[in-house]
Order: sequence, then structure tokens, then C-alpha cells
Amino acid sequence: MTTLCLIPGDGVGQEVIPAAARVLAAVLPAAHLVQAEAGWACFSRTGTALPAATLAAVAAADATLFGATQSPSTVVAGYHSPILALRKHFDLYANLRPTAALPGARSFDLLLVRENSEGLYSGRERLEDADTAIAERVITRRASERIAHVAFAQARARARRGLPARVTVVHKANVLKLSDGLFRTACLDVAAQYPDVATEEMLVDAAAMWLVKEPARFAVLVTTNLFGDILSDLAAGLAGGLGVAPSANLGAGGVAVFEPVHGSAPDIAGRGIANPIGAILSAALLLEHVQQATAAARVRRAVQGVLAADCLPPDLGGSATTDQVTAAILQRLEETA
Ligand code: IPM
Ligand code: MN
Repeated sequence: MTTLCLIPGDGVGQEVIPAAARVLAAVLPAAHLVQAEAGWACFSRTGTALPAATLAAVAAADATLFGATQSPSTVVAGYHSPILALRKHFDLYANLRPTAALPGARSFDLLLVRENSEGLYSGRERLEDADTAIAERVITRRASERIAHVAFAQARARARRGLPARVTVVHKANVLKLSDGLFRTACLDVAAQYPDVATEEMLVDAAAMWLVKEPARFAVLVTTNLFGDILSDLAAGLAGGLGVAPSANLGAGGVAVFEPVHGSAPDIAGRGIANPIGAILSAALLLEHVQQATAAARVRRAVQGVLAADCLPPDLGGSATTDQVTAAILQRLEETA
């Protein structure tokens, strides 16, 4: 039996994860859904943002669906971002962020592969004195090579689906000659092992421009942690916004955590208008991971159908509520059962 762990978290996570759970229950009724908690509300109540019981539930599950958590922009003693802690604890070094055009929009289909374990997210940030803060950007050959392997393997898998076999290595080695120089060299070394996949490199600023101007020229992009964070929001914006963007956090240890790219959105939380599609498409990625490709394809078709039928939540220009979008998706799933 497949066990799935659900962590709604804070804010709209409490709305979109139950919506995605209904979709999972519809397409995989035999799955065992386990709830776990994390986040700011959890921290305020229990003193920990990521309880040991949650770590245990994630470790025991075949896959986890994570909503969003609220993190303050200042240091709060004892509080650590749960998603960053999960990535670190389980060494979920690969962050896959696919983005494709919505129905009716200019067409593109790209996959951003974000290094998820080091770079500017290494946690090495300190105050030198009251007026000088330093963040160390750690780049290692090992982490760069393993993320490059993920990118090239994904390009191969996409080629089997008829998509271009191409990887763009995105870096800023013209300025960060040592750190991004190493990332670049490691990726190009790995590229040599995938002669069937075309490789190009691009500076991150140029990549931002070309993503906006001509997203269809990209297939798979691989980049370091913070660049990937920024470019994945940019790519989400091309596809209608953060509300529809899914992601996967994968490692070598078998733990997999799927999450919508959006945050806890406190400005709209509790109003029932959050877009559940990012969470539902993350559930589709999760289904693929647990060998349920047919169920995943059904979910994607249902989402496409609902979008094409203009059942849109406010962030996509419509007025449908979270429940209405979810109900429309469940309805389509029933019709295709
Ligand atoms: C993301 C988010 C996280 C990140 C935050 C919530 C720590 O923005 O998954 O893109 O920066 O990685
Ligand atoms: Mn982000």
C-alpha cells in the first residue's frame, strides 16, 4: 500500500493541501494519507517548527506533499524554515520545477533543475560587525555533478516523450569565477557523459531575459540554488503565476517531498480563494514518483480541461474559489474514470 504524508503548514497551505488530498484520494483510493504538522503556527504552539513526529512521518511515507509555511524575515530564536530543514535533513538535493504554458497561451515546456543543498542556502551567514553581513556561497564539485546528472537524465527522459534533448547550464562564472566556475566545469564534465543530449551554457542574467522573451528556446535548465529559486518564480510567472507551479524535492535516500512553488500567502489565506492547482500539479508529480503515471496523466488532463473551460481562481483572472476549482477537477476525474 502507498503511504502519503500531507503537511499543510501555514496560510493557504491549509487550503490547497486538503484540495490536493481530495484529488489524490479520487485517483488513488487505496493510498493511506497521513497528516503531519510543520510551520509557524506549529512553532508558536509547540516551540518547534518541524516536530520529530513529522520527520518520522516523512521518512516512513512513500512520498510527502508539503503546502507552505510562513517564515519571518528576521532571526527568531529556534525557528528554522521547515522546507529548508526537510531538504537538509533528507539531503533532497534536486529541486525539479517544470513549467509549461497554460492552454491558449504561447507554447513552451521547460524544466528547471535547481541545486537544492548548497550555494547561498548553505546557512553560512554571519554579522562581521554591526554594519557588515557576510553570506558564504558554497559550491562543491560533488553537489554540482550530482545535480548535473539529474538534469541530463531528465533531458533524456523528456526526449523519450518527444521533447528536445537539451540542457542549458545557467551560471555567473564571468563574475563568480571560482564558485560558478566550478559549477560550470562540473556540469560540462558531466555533459560529456551524455553525448545524446545537447548542452549550452548561459549567464543567469541573459537566461532571465531569454526566458521572458522566448521561453520555447529552453528545454532543461540546471543552475545553483538561489538562481534556481529566482528563475523558477520567473518561469512560473510565464505560465500564469505562482498559483499553478509545482515542484519536487528529491534525494538519493528515497524520501521525496512535493510542494507548490508558492508560499503561505498570508494576504489571501483563510478566504477560500487560493489557487489549488500548484498543489494539485505537485500531487501529479508525486503520483509519477510513486509509479502511478496513469493517475498522474489523468490529473493533468483534468487540470488542463478545467483551465481551458475558464474555471479560474482570482490569481488567473477569474472568480472561482478553491472549492469550485477543486470540485471542477474532481468532476472531470469522475468523467474520465
Ligand atoms: C521555494 C521557497 C523556499 C526557498 C523558501 C520558502 C525557503 O521560496 O521553495 O522556492 O527559498 O527555497
Ligand atoms: Mn522560491
